[in-house]
Amino acid sequence: MKEKARQEIERLRAEINRHNFLYYVDNAPEISDRAFDDLLRRLIDLEAAHPEFASADSPTSKVGGAPAEGFARMTHAVPMLSIDFVRTPDKLRKFDQDVRKKLGRPPSGYVVEPKIDGVAVTLWYERGSLARGGTRGDGSEGDEITANLAAVRSVPLRLDPLGRGPAPPAVLEVRGEAYMTWASFEKANAALAAEGREPFANPRNSTAGTLKQLDPKVVASRRISFAAHGIGTVDPNPFKTYTEIRGFLGTAGLPPASPAARCADMDGVIEAIPGWERDRPDLPFPSDGIVIKIDDLAEREGVGSAPKYPRWAIAFKFEAESAVTAITDVDFQVGQSGQITPVANLRPVELAGTTVSRASLHNFEMVRRKDIRTGDRVVVEKAGEIIPYVIRSLSEVRAGAEEPLVPPDRCPACSQPLDADDSRTAVSCANQSCPGRLKAQLRHWASRGAMDIEGLGAKIVDLLVDRGMVSSQADLYSLSAPDLEPLDRMGARSAAALAGAIEASKDRSLARLLFALGIQHVGAEAAKNLAGEFGTIEALMSADVGRLESARAIGPVIARSVHDFVRNARNRDLIARLANAGVARSRWASWFSVIGRPFRSPRTVRALCCVRLLTGHRRQGSSDEARG
Ligand code: IVH
Repeated sequence: MKEKARQEIERLRAEINRHNFLYYVDNAPEISDRAFDDLLRRLIDLEAAHPEFASADSPTSKVGGAPAEGFARMTHAVPMLSIDFVRTPDKLRKFDQDVRKKLGRPPSGYVVEPKIDGVAVTLWYERGSLARGGTRGDGSEGDEITANLAAVRSVPLRLDPLGRGPAPPAVLEVRGEAYMTWASFEKANAALAAEGREPFANPRNSTAGTLKQLDPKVVASRRISFAAHGIGTVDPNPFKTYTEIRGFLGTAGLPPASPAARCADMDGVIEAIPGWERDRPDLPFPSDGIVIKIDDLAEREGVGSAPKYPRWAIAFKFEAESAVTAITDVDFQVGQSGQITPVANLRPVELAGTTVSRASLHNFEMVRRKDIRTGDRVVVEKAGEIIPYVIRSLSEVRAGAEEPLVPPDRCPACSQPLDADDSRTAVSCANQSCPGRLKAQLRHWASRGAMDIEGLGAKIVDLLVDRGMVSSQADLYSLSAPDLEPLDRMGARSAAALAGAIEASKDRSLARLLFALGIQHVGAEAAKNLAGEFGTIEALMSADVGRLESARAIGPVIARSVHDFVRNARNRDLIARLANAGVARSRWASWFSVIGRPFRSPRTVRALCCVRLLTGHRRQGSSDEARG
């Protein structure tokens, strides 16, 4: 009888450990949550009936556990350091230079992971069993919160319960981040709100508050996750690289921070930053940057640590600040190529030093996926100079009057019926002469990264189009100061300044011009590559798709798009009119255009600087080299 119970308990423990592993590590559960809970309940009952078989590493410790009186202190044999952070690529290069100096050579590679916004914790395993766990505290001593960490379902009580990998070291201290996903945070807040209690402001506070609870059952009821991002004490140490550690921990059932990438050098890291920044809003957890660390452990040793920070790791923080406000209503904006974008009007809120009252909702697919509704309370963020965007809605605090967004049937600018795909998530206006489209094209044309026309903002663009003064980008160049003066009560001085800014924009490079034209898929980088490759717009216009594709970093999609753009009669007309107006002929280019080749690339212009030295000319106008 007793022996049977013991066997049943062991079988259930192994079974539950296996399902935990399948759920948290493999992301491939075999049974429903309900069936899992039944197994767990059976084990709880059996263990209650047979206390003689109690074991600290039973999966039931995750749900049971008596409330603690207070926490003991836990001393960290290897200090839990913080991490220094930078906000610019130049500072990353400086970090890399310091590393090279210390090592006497470049490091063999960097691993990049998201910086998870949670609470740093440590898990001490002895012979594969969780022995202790604690918070960072001041770095040398924190709170011992073993029962609470054991209640975190993604923290295994035993490493590698399925025996899939090598045996763990006798002592292995795993460091990582306890955090809440946005979804768990919402659920926890909804539960608090239902009890009439104060919700947490953000997932990090929610995690910290939860881990401070003396009752581990509370921890179990709020879903906290764990992601490993390093190790402390390890004995014996079989690891040579952090990549190896990540592999080992993954197999052992401790998910490492993800997604992760390995870059051979800092240039590779820097090139990848825009991608990380772009994907960040889609991460299931809050993250305000990335962490970059030397992969090779001997090299880490070689560069060492400052008192508070390691010298082998650095965080790159994205320029983002967030605030919570409400969507009062939603406008539909027409983009350069006719795409319709929902834009939220917000209850004005302070964000990174400015008052924000509008934010992009990107597209209807995102609105649907994130279930953003008119009237919702939302988290808005601002990254650098980019306009703020809505990260997510606080769906847990809905009052009931919020309304789902429905894409419009007709263009808000020209009233023509809109084209839509089957799912009605990509909606666009096909009218080539749509004033909404023209306004978007002009706004982009005037923007900083494009032709950089100071003073030509959205308001003036609207007036110019609505009064029929401008019907293409080329028309801007026939406007004089007296034409502009009556607009928006501008005054003679502002009108002259704007006319001057428009005139000055004629000197922009071919790269800027190509970007400013708003060719689909051609961003600033692709424009630069195309300009460098072809040198003149004529060369670009006569290239076939194959030739376009042979340019540096230009793939088939961009090549096709450029090809289609320059073959379009309307666009050809625009380009000819711009050339006639003298746009993008720098002094040197126009000097050369005497022999009939306008639109110089920056590279050509740079080459021509030699001529400047020889002839003693001074280069005028704005230079891309100087602006970057
Ligand atoms: S590595 C020696 N990797 O950010 C410290 N830390 O602000 C090496 N953090 O204290 C830390 N995500 O708690 C590392 N992927 C990640 C991280 C990460 C979040 C935390 C960590 C650290 C804090 C510094």
